Amino acid sequence: MKQLIVYFSRVGENSLNGEKQIINKGFTEILAEKISAALNAPMYKIEPVEPYPFSYDECVKRSRKEDETGERVPYLNPLPNLDEYDVIYLGFPCWWRTYPRVVATFVKDYIFIGKTIYPFCTNEEGSLGLAEMELKGQAKGAIIKSGFACKGVEVEQIDAKLNDWLKR
Ligand SMILES: Cc1cc2nc3c(=O)[nH]c(=O)nc-3n(C[C@H](O)[C@H](O)[C@H](O)COP(=O)(O)O)c2cc1C
Repeated sequence: MKQLIVYFSRVGENSLNGEKQIINKGFTEILAEKISAALNAPMYKIEPVEPYPFSYDECVKRSRKEDETGERVPYLNPLPNLDEYDVIYLGFPCWWRTYPRVVATFVKDYIFIGKTIYPFCTNEEGSLGLAEMELKGQAKGAIIKSGFACKGVEVEQIDAKLNDWLKR
């Protein structure tokens, strides 16, 4: 069984508990690295063609517009081949209660017949929100398993819970 970690994560200014802070490494990226290390599986990062703004407020503005218009948000580096993988760990920050639209583009671009997706996310409130439900509608042919979520600010203290989820 071959496993792959696919994720998107943003660096720049974020708002943590209502306070603006500059983040040099995204929380979801930290989580993706932990999963990759635990499973000894390769990682693939989704990079939007136009990077999301450094400014938190600008990022909010752009992502809200993308949500409203449902536009296709292109990414730079399509995977040459997903065929060799059976299991995909799909990671993202929760934006507007689901995955960012650039992640939605990835999900819509591939056929997942015979593949299993385990979603994981970081956010402010520690839940997957609508992501699992939306994935079931968008990831063609995939089996969507119950995901893992934690608060971004707690990502460094989450190993025990994460390992429990990975064991299951
Ligand atoms: C545009 C935007 C929308 C967000 N929407 C939500 C949300 O709906 N619910 C939530 O709990 N957190 C929300 N957040 C907070 C992020 O999910 C959280 O900071 C996350 O850990 C960031 O991950 P990253 O560092 O990997 O990008 C939002 C953040 C941004 C920038």
